[in-house]
Amino acid sequence: MSRNISKLSGRKGLKDNLFKRMIDTSSKTRNGKEIKQLAEEYHVGMSTIHGAESFYEFLRPEHKEKKAWICNGSACMCAGTQGKVREKLSKKLGKDKIGMMFCLGHCYETSSFHYNGHNYSGNDIDQIDEIIKGKKINSKKMYSKSFATKTILMGDDLSSIDQFKDLVSNVLKKDKKETLKTVTDSNLCGRGGAGFPTGMKWNFCSQQKVKKKYVVCNADEGDSGAFSDRYLLEEQPLKVILGMLVCAYIIGSDEGVLYIRGEYPKSIEIINGTINELKKANLLGKNILGTNFSCDMTICIGQGAYICGEESALIASIEGRRAEVDVRPPFPVVEGLYKKPTVVNNVETLAAIPCILKFGAKAFSSVGNTKSAGTKLVCLDSLFKKPGVYEIDMGTSMKKIIHEIGEGFVQPVKALQVGGPLGGVIPIKEVEKLNLDFQEFTKAGFMLGHGSVVSIPETFSMVRYIHHLFKFSSDESCGKCFPGRLGSYRGKEMFDQALNKSNKIPIKLLNELLVTMKKGCLCALCGAIPVPISNILKYFTHEFKDDINQGA
Ligand SMILES: Cc1cc2nc3c(=O)[nH]c(=O)nc-3n(C[C@H](O)[C@H](O)[C@H](O)COP(=O)(O)O)c2cc1C
Repeated sequence: MSRNISKLSGRKGLKDNLFKRMIDTSSKTRNGKEIKQLAEEYHVGMSTIHGAESFYEFLRPEHKEKKAWICNGSACMCAGTQGKVREKLSKKLGKDKIGMMFCLGHCYETSSFHYNGHNYSGNDIDQIDEIIKGKKINSKKMYSKSFATKTILMGDDLSSIDQFKDLVSNVLKKDKKETLKTVTDSNLCGRGGAGFPTGMKWNFCSQQKVKKKYVVCNADEGDSGAFSDRYLLEEQPLKVILGMLVCAYIIGSDEGVLYIRGEYPKSIEIINGTINELKKANLLGKNILGTNFSCDMTICIGQGAYICGEESALIASIEGRRAEVDVRPPFPVVEGLYKKPTVVNNVETLAAIPCILKFGAKAFSSVGNTKSAGTKLVCLDSLFKKPGVYEIDMGTSMKKIIHEIGEGFVQPVKALQVGGPLGGVIPIKEVEKLNLDFQEFTKAGFMLGHGSVVSIPETFSMVRYIHHLFKFSSDESCGKCFPGRLGSYRGKEMFDQALNKSNKIPIKLLNELLVTMKKGCLCALCGAIPVPISNILKYFTHEFKDDINQGA
């Protein structure tokens, strides 16, 4: 069934994208007549449109009735700033006009909220009267600095259209195989979490004997604590787009799409402007620089579903389907967007490409080790004395990152959650033993993931933190597999009851639930959430002694 919908949606493709049309029509008065028209135009059932639309938080009528949204991501929660934000917004706009958004990517300042198409954080809430009156507030920029021996992601090597033009014309003059070899030899592995070798992924896709192929930039950065993709989209947009263009050239694609989360309005605006500028300069579109290589780019705006970061759910979303995870194989490089071969890469993976080509594979591969090579962006939250996004050599000790780069904490912190809500929760003493290395983190029972760091203060209850994780997975599960859909909800219920003291945690049942989710879930959302929960149960047992029923 989903196969048919992909193909029907693919008849119009990205040029007249069904998901965009659903978003456009849902912002107008929506009635059965409009759904019927859309369904007829795309030759799909009305239930298909309605079913897809009802999946997305931002397309729901309840969402549209709100005026402001408070960030309920892990960093804002741990910093304890959101009570004041809620109180002030409720006073001004009314309690029932306030909604929630999961992580606005302002974890370096917290106190984050979204109002009228813009994100605010830090002291901005104190200017709420001016904000409501329409005054433009320039929120503090995120602090960014490179500590890398060879700056790849943060340098100004690609900050002008002329520099873009030079790099594109070099790539177009070279043999595709030579460029692919440079990417492969760099040992660049995907930065979106799974760590698949980028050169190998591009090679698989280039070998598909199909005329139509796609490049997708995964800019759905939903991990709480992460704002590195946001940094790249807003401060280094040319690097991200050039990475996509090089990929398109190598695999033989003429169309790319950036799936950017709706929670990042500034990123959408900047990428949109950059695409338009590049089109004007004939660096995107038909016959780029007079060659026979043509490639167009477009944007798809996410509608508030964390699962859309998972590549098969992301593809489903672009096609205008419910963003449910698909079973693999086939992998996207064989059957991806509209069932055509597709490379899906993370923003940071793509942004590394221009400087790898400029400085050579060795400049990247000689940093870190073979499997964890090059530099990586790491985000430190507001509980660090020096919060911000940093470019750091792979292999750097976490001790250095925490105490020298981040300059330690503003208050006592007992653990860090590294790699988003699915990453490990690691006591400070344990995390200090590790280096910035994907394999080292995995071997120790954690996950480096996208490299975000959320600090959990001494005073923050770990019972509450587990509740937060279960609530997150039950809110965000795509609902396709029942261990994920029911398991995360049952876990949340256990911790609801522990928090309101109506029942103790049935520890045997909880452990069985965690094993079932780990083994039985379709993807790493509900399948990996047991990792941080098990870490907390192991390292912070003392915090649970009054809340556990040992017999159940
Ligand atoms: C639940 C879940 C959420 C994910 N979220 C993201 C995300 O926000 N951004 C991202 O690039 N990859 C995310 N991924 C990984 C993607 O599925 C995919 O592996 C990645 O985009 C491939 O790009 P890369 O090879 O450049 O890493 C997520 C995976 C899972 C299971």
